[in-house]
Amino acid sequence: MTQLIDPFARAISYLRVSVTDRCDFRCTYCMSENMTFLPKADLLSLEELDRLCTTFIRMGVQKLRITGGEPLVRKGILTFFEAMSRHLGTGALKELTLTTNGSQLTKFAEPLAALGIKRINVSLDTLDPAKFAQITRWGRLPQVLDGIAAAKAAGLRVKINAVALKGFNEDELFSLTDWCAANDHDLTFIEVMPMGDDMGSATRLDQYWPLKDLRARLAERFALTDLTEQTGGPARYVRLAETGQKIGFITPLTHNFCESCNRVRLTCTGELYMCLGQEDMADLRAPLRANPEDAGLEQAIRAAIARKPKGHDFDYSRQKVAGKIGGQMTRHMSHTGG
Ligand code: GTP
Ligand code: 5AD
Ligand code: SF4
Repeated sequence: MTQLIDPFARAISYLRVSVTDRCDFRCTYCMSENMTFLPKADLLSLEELDRLCTTFIRMGVQKLRITGGEPLVRKGILTFFEAMSRHLGTGALKELTLTTNGSQLTKFAEPLAALGIKRINVSLDTLDPAKFAQITRWGRLPQVLDGIAAAKAAGLRVKINAVALKGFNEDELFSLTDWCAANDHDLTFIEVMPMGDDMGSATRLDQYWPLKDLRARLAERFALTDLTEQTGGPARYVRLAETGQKIGFITPLTHNFCESCNRVRLTCTGELYMCLGQEDMADLRAPLRANPEDAGLEQAIRAAIARKPKGHDFDYSRQKVAGKIGGQMTRHMSHTGG
């Protein structure tokens, strides 16, 4: 089977799969508090997700990241990880991993490690219990810290994802960095993207802390060296000379990393989004269910990849000009899994 290649000659080797839109947290930049979730009947079964992922792997996907919502709240999720781990066994898949809020890791860290998962990404924006409760609404910090500790104890490498939020965690730049150094976690900062609907009269622009500013602040205390290495994700990394730790920056707003994009996103209902920052998607559920043979599905996937856009249109400057909406997308991050 020939490798999936998009119209801009980018090989598609990374599939992110949102296995549920549900979550046990309600992060303010992601969901509204009274979020309406999809009817359970609309979800693909784990067997259907298996068939889809396996088809993508046959078509050249080598990195599979399971996301949500919170992936670990989906019933039977370990069975799914176990099923996917067979592709690690054959060597078709180079990496099987997940992005999680950490809330269920005390229960899942060990079994995940036993299935061949090596590193996981955990979202954590603050180490202050009150601020954590404020930003996640339903989350509690000790539960997540226990989960991260369990992951480390199980031998999983942990990367912390922190969304950089003006006026919220600016004052924690060094405490987060120091905590990650002390616990040997990698750390990546993410610029807040204009998604979701729960913003009242404000826009994400009010929360936008450009990572070039964050980086300059970091450079006041540490000597930063740019690293050339890549994980196949959008982050660019620096090394801090003083601690030796690696810090990543994901800058969808200040730096456009789309030219090297290698990924597509599958939702829990079988929609394939060719770009996180665009509305266009292809329904794969219909061809999946239409025929137990995979030929039609493969054709639908190729047709979708042939529509992959050059890049996203996130742009706060247009918001400024327009006074409000601009580059804002109404889709929730929990739908496409970040
Ligand atoms: P690594 O394998 O550790 O490099 O992971 P990753 O950065 O690919 O995955 P992770 O789930 O940690 O992604 C972190 C966040 O980066 C996501 O939740 C998104 O917010 C953002 N992100 C990832 N890929 C894209 C992308 O293609 N476009 C945009 N705009 N943001 C992305
Ligand atoms: N902007 C940037 N990152 C976001 N995430 C969720 N919503 C947003 C947003 N609007 C991040 C979470 C998590 C990842 C899955 O997506 O913090 O790290
Ligand atoms: Fe849940 Fe992650 Fe969204 Fe927070 S950002 S509500 S943890 S899916």
